[in-house]
Amino acid sequence: MTKIRAAITSINGWVPDYILTNDELSKMVDTSDEWIITRTGIKERHILKGNGKGTSVLGTEAVKGLLKKTGISPKEIDLLICATVTPDMQFPATANIISDKAGLKNAFSYDLNAACSSYIYSLVTASKFIEAGNYKKIIVVGADKMSSIVDYSDRTTCVIFGDAGTATLLEPTTEDFGIKDAILRTDGSGMIHLHQKAGGSVRPASHETVDAKEHFIYQEGQAVFKFAVSNMADIAVEIMKKNGLKSEDIAWLVPHQANLRIVEATARRMGIRKDRVMINIQRYGNTTSATIPLCLWEWENQLKKGDNLILSAFGGGFTWGSIYLKWAYDPK
Ligand code: ACO
Repeated sequence: MTKIRAAITSINGWVPDYILTNDELSKMVDTSDEWIITRTGIKERHILKGNGKGTSVLGTEAVKGLLKKTGISPKEIDLLICATVTPDMQFPATANIISDKAGLKNAFSYDLNAACSSYIYSLVTASKFIEAGNYKKIIVVGADKMSSIVDYSDRTTCVIFGDAGTATLLEPTTEDFGIKDAILRTDGSGMIHLHQKAGGSVRPASHETVDAKEHFIYQEGQAVFKFAVSNMADIAVEIMKKNGLKSEDIAWLVPHQANLRIVEATARRMGIRKDRVMINIQRYGNTTSATIPLCLWEWENQLKKGDNLILSAFGGGFTWGSIYLKWAYDPK
């Protein structure tokens, strides 16, 4: 029987207009443009402003743009998965809100949260529905309004994150393209180093939790850095070895944009030249579920059919993973 694979057949990104620069952050907390660039590589990030605007706004704009770009009717979409760590609300799923706003009348939808690995996890999950044979068009939204959980008086986290939305279309192919392999990992003991203390069932929202700023990101930067550097590089090397790939076989490394130093360390371990690594952290910061698809979207015109890509991410949980895929189309 011919094997069905899931291939990315189009991608779109959307970022809000407002740009928060390092200089503006330097007026809000004790930091500097030089510190932020040296330690993270970030120069600016986009922020979604306006009351009542959540992650679904980012996702919906990206999905509408994708449908316009491809000419596909919203009614043709079978499933929408929203990769996010900042849902509009605890329930219903942000995916449902996006599907409604974008007119996806025939799709079922749900959210998937694996922190910064949400996009990788979602792409793998979506690919299984396609490989099963009964789903033809799936959209994976990678969207996060990180500014909604960032404490802008905490210099150790507020410089890192930004907001963005993306939409990736997956369709079946019987050719030798698409998602070829993936490795996903989780280590729940890492929770102590990176989490949101309140707002869940352990510590529901109260005056005390709000006063203690427990609805913001809690991160022990150095500990997370150490785990991220080793695990993101290890898993990328592991998927290369598993598939018999040498560094010269890889057209592009598409890493989660958490910190430029983590990205560079991963590329070094894989033996990939810097000009083969997608890096746009300087303009967007860490947009969590949106970093990898934002790169694919920006590099779309440079990608050629048959290019070998390695996607790699690390995030809260801890979660991490790598995907090996063969790009399925030439620039249009
Ligand atoms: N400006 C100036 N000084 C700062 C800033 C800042 N913005 N932030 C921290 N500092 C200070 C610290 O207070 C510390 O000062 P001290 O020595 O007087 O105590 C000093 O700089 C060094 O701090 P470190 O935490 O050691 O700095 P580091 O080089 O580790 O950089 C960073 C911090 C950027 C957070 C880094 O650790 C990092 O990128 N960690 C990984 C983040 C990550 O990958 N997260 C996972 C994804 S997020 C998710 O899943 C939701």
